[in-house]
Amino acid sequence: TLPRVYVTRKIPPEGLKILSQSGEVQYELWDSDNPVPRQELLKRVRGVDGLVCVLTEKIDAEVLDAAGPNLKVLSTMSVGFDHLSLDELKKRGIRVGYTPDVLTDAVAELTVALLLTTSRRLVEATHEAKTGGWGTWRTLWLCGYELANSTVGILGLGRIGIAIAERLMPFKVKKFIYTDVAPRPELASQIQAEYVSMEELAKQKLFSQMKNTAIFINTSRGGVVNQEDLYEALSTGQIAAAGLDVTTPEPLPTNHPLFTLKNCVILPHIASASYTTRNAMSALAANNLLAGLRGEPMPKELKL
Ligand code: GLV
Ligand code: GLV
Repeated sequence: TLPRVYVTRKIPPEGLKILSQSGEVQYELWDSDNPVPRQELLKRVRGVDGLVCVLTEKIDAEVLDAAGPNLKVLSTMSVGFDHLSLDELKKRGIRVGYTPDVLTDAVAELTVALLLTTSRRLVEATHEAKTGGWGTWRTLWLCGYELANSTVGILGLGRIGIAIAERLMPFKVKKFIYTDVAPRPELASQIQAEYVSMEELAKQKLFSQMKNTAIFINTSRGGVVNQEDLYEALSTGQIAAAGLDVTTPEPLPTNHPLFTLKNCVILPHIASASYTTRNAMSALAANNLLAGLRGEPMPKELKL
């Protein structure tokens, strides 16, 4: 009999096609756009050989115990893996696939879009135009900040950080600085970025050390920022604006104070949301799963 696989979400069609056409697995799908309820997940994973998940599913000891010893491969349709208990997966010898690279262009584009949106106050501007605020052309009305001659700091210089910097260069950014767990000289040299220590960009100090013309963009995970400090910095003018594609929690409650700020643009975690990219992520997740179940190297495997 074929290996049994549970897919925790209606993933885009390219991935499902690969699973069906392979003839190598028998899969069951949570056939919805919404997350599978936890109790349902715990029930459905029982005895499976493979699991395909997305970032809303917390894959921890409880889920892995519910699945039992047959589970050999976990494939997440995401580049991030903070929803996975890596120690628990490693302990059980479960291999893990993820989806880097295929989403780099989409995430870099969205990040640049969010930076321009906030630096040039586009959301406020369309709101003014639509709601009668556009009385006449005024000299300093809706003025923002230019990327030309700016300094851009990148927290985490990986594939996506580099792709963002490459896209920003034509905007005549003056200088790139970056921080990461360690200097990454080969990558940094591609954009002539200067390394600064993590302490310098430590989260409790970050906003107070930034200039009042600074713009903060987050397209990684909500957890990297203290949202109370961010609210304080934005509401007191310590920094100019923020653009967030990720928050804590997600979704951010609609009555959250950050939503009251004109200088804060919040998106519902859509950085990789292009049709091309989401289908590519789905296909890669399917191919990772199949390779893992065959005992072959996965196209993109997380080293545990
Ligand atoms: C999106 O946030 C991802 O991790 O793919
Ligand atoms: C702007 O439209 C200008 O003419 O300066």
